[in-house]
Amino acid sequence: MAASLGKSWISSRTCKRSLAKQDQNETEMQGSAPHGRSLFGRRVGRPLSAQKKEIMDRLLPAYTIPADKLEHPAALTPEKLFTKKYASCWFEIGFGYGEHLAALARKNPDTAYIGAEPFLNGMAAFLSEMDESPAGNVRILMDDAMKIARALADETLDGIYILNPDPWHKTRHHKRRIVNEANLDVFCRILKPGGELIMTSDVEAMAEWMVTQATNHPGFEWTAKTAQDWQQPPAGWFTTRYEVKGAKNAKKMSYLLFRKRPA
Ligand SMILES: C[S@@+](CC[C@H](N)C(=O)[O-])C[C@H]1O[C@@H](n2cnc3c(N)ncnc32)[C@H](O)[C@@H]1O
Repeated sequence: MAASLGKSWISSRTCKRSLAKQDQNETEMQGSAPHGRSLFGRRVGRPLSAQKKEIMDRLLPAYTIPADKLEHPAALTPEKLFTKKYASCWFEIGFGYGEHLAALARKNPDTAYIGAEPFLNGMAAFLSEMDESPAGNVRILMDDAMKIARALADETLDGIYILNPDPWHKTRHHKRRIVNEANLDVFCRILKPGGELIMTSDVEAMAEWMVTQATNHPGFEWTAKTAQDWQQPPAGWFTTRYEVKGAKNAKKMSYLLFRKRPA
């Protein structure tokens, strides 16, 4: 199968862990994070302009998921975050400057969106977009996406986006990659059966990593049937600033669509 997809990507699905083992993995992963940290990368870039600071002060509290909603594992439902009932709910992990999340929220007012981005300047850019064109169907967190993921109830989400996650190139830093066995267990738990996990990268080694991790996970299946399926964006794709920049440098994007297997 991997050869027909155009790369020697691993497609074995030999991983048959029990639920008990999954729980153990999650606990170990959290407990063994280097220096007790679960979040890596920069949180602050250039100082914010006075205008962005004002927007952050005004809008962050309105869009933020309250801390008390994240206290209890596997208990958070969209109904606890939104006053209106939405037909579906998607989660974007590491939304950067938020243009993808903002565009989706505007395009699909009947879908609820949750987003996480710890980078202050990215959050300020996203909230500036919300200031120009508010969206009631979005809730966000300026922190580690896994805090939301662990709080979400079982089979809550229709889909998860992880677009261009930090590749952490050095081998000793691979454990920092957000797509890993323990986190995939959590993503699998919070997705509805048939729910989508959509990952992209313009770093070939990172795309390979994500394909390997997700195909080895018993809960996910790769939807690609031909190489074109991962080389071309899916229909209706919203191109991010990061993607445009990559394309200018002749970087090739991989679009990896996985689906949670039915129970
Ligand atoms: C290379 S950027 C890509 C940004 C955006 N997804 C895009 O495609 O333009 C990776 C982003 O993931 C964020 N990130 C890293 N670890 C994260 C975590 N644990 N939770 C949420 N976001 C995270 C970083 O702050 C950064 O903004």
